[in-house]
Amino acid sequence: MALSSPLQNLSALIAASANAAAAPPRRRSWAVDAAASDTSTAPVQLGGYEEGKLERPKWVGETPLSRLVQTLISFKPLYSILKLGARRALISTAEKNNIPWREMAKEILESEVYREMDSIQNQSLVYPDYYLNPFHAYEEGNLTWLAAAEAEAATMSMARRALPDASSLEEANQILRGNWLRAIEQHHTQYSESSVISDILDIGCSVGISTRYLADKFPTAKVTGLDLSPYFLAVAQHKQKKETPRKFPIRWIHANGEDTGLPSESFDLVSIAFVLHECPTRVMVNLVKEAFRLLRPGGTLALTDFSLKSKVLQELSPVLFTLVKSTEPFLDEYYLTDMDQTLREAGFVNITSILTDPRHVTITATVPQ
Ligand SMILES: C[S@@+](CC[C@H](N)C(=O)[O-])C[C@H]1O[C@@H](n2cnc3c(N)ncnc32)[C@H](O)[C@@H]1O
Repeated sequence: MALSSPLQNLSALIAASANAAAAPPRRRSWAVDAAASDTSTAPVQLGGYEEGKLERPKWVGETPLSRLVQTLISFKPLYSILKLGARRALISTAEKNNIPWREMAKEILESEVYREMDSIQNQSLVYPDYYLNPFHAYEEGNLTWLAAAEAEAATMSMARRALPDASSLEEANQILRGNWLRAIEQHHTQYSESSVISDILDIGCSVGISTRYLADKFPTAKVTGLDLSPYFLAVAQHKQKKETPRKFPIRWIHANGEDTGLPSESFDLVSIAFVLHECPTRVMVNLVKEAFRLLRPGGTLALTDFSLKSKVLQELSPVLFTLVKSTEPFLDEYYLTDMDQTLREAGFVNITSILTDPRHVTITATVPQ
């Protein structure tokens, strides 16, 4: 009870800030499967997004502002309030933007998704330590049915936050995913002697949204989605069973992207989308090295995640960046990791970075032929 008043105030403040950054809702559109949207017709604005003046936002790293936020977050009672406030704000902001978060989660939780677990789960997998911590305001991180059931709504909200001026949720998704896919295609065509993409691996595929976009873009390729959460993969497999069958059904693998156990040189494209900011630096380095091993000569690695240079992120309001940092434990490590250097040290060449929406960068690189 003692916390309810500050909590309500904080939630209201957070929700107000989040809403101010989002476009007014236009129409109810979540029922359209985001992955089935046609990204080929998305308005093209590749690389035209505005960069800020700083090297990275002031709220990360060893700046006084970053230290202040970190001190606030590490004060347990305040952290609990922030975490709860962050969750409430995320849900209410999503629902105001026509993403029926609770309805979507309920649909999954009341479905037969649980049946997929046995065929998906690799019982001998040992989870890395960082993965077992509370995360995204879930006490058990990504290892719960609730996190899995809410993942699609959370992903849609991310697209909406990135593109608040888009005329609809579909358009936001089409721009965000369409530009990312275009950046990958352009890179591969430019730098690979054989531009054919036959085998694709999506590391950190979550509930399969990025994986389905890749499969739609490259319909002749065999696509594999890999993730550490069997709950997320169960949702991915459950959703695939409800879709029109594909010529090459997506294969789902429960494994650690740092050490997949898959054969060397067996993919033409490895994608790691919105995963790195959730990992400590050593894991980012391992993921990049593993991708190098898995790619054929001439193969392309595509990373997409928060941009250090994004003007919008550099100018995020204090309430919002405190909120983001309270649910993303490795954000500082992400922002302080030199990704170009990590890629070069792993052996990649032709490293290219482009802002593919106002918040996110897509970095593409090639394994030398
Ligand atoms: C934000 S989600 C990715 C979303 C998805 N790629 C998309 O674009 O819609 C991040 C995912 O990375 C996964 N992940 C984190 N560390 C991983 C690792 N070492 N190996 C495989 N997956 C990992 C998490 O389980 C989570 O599903």
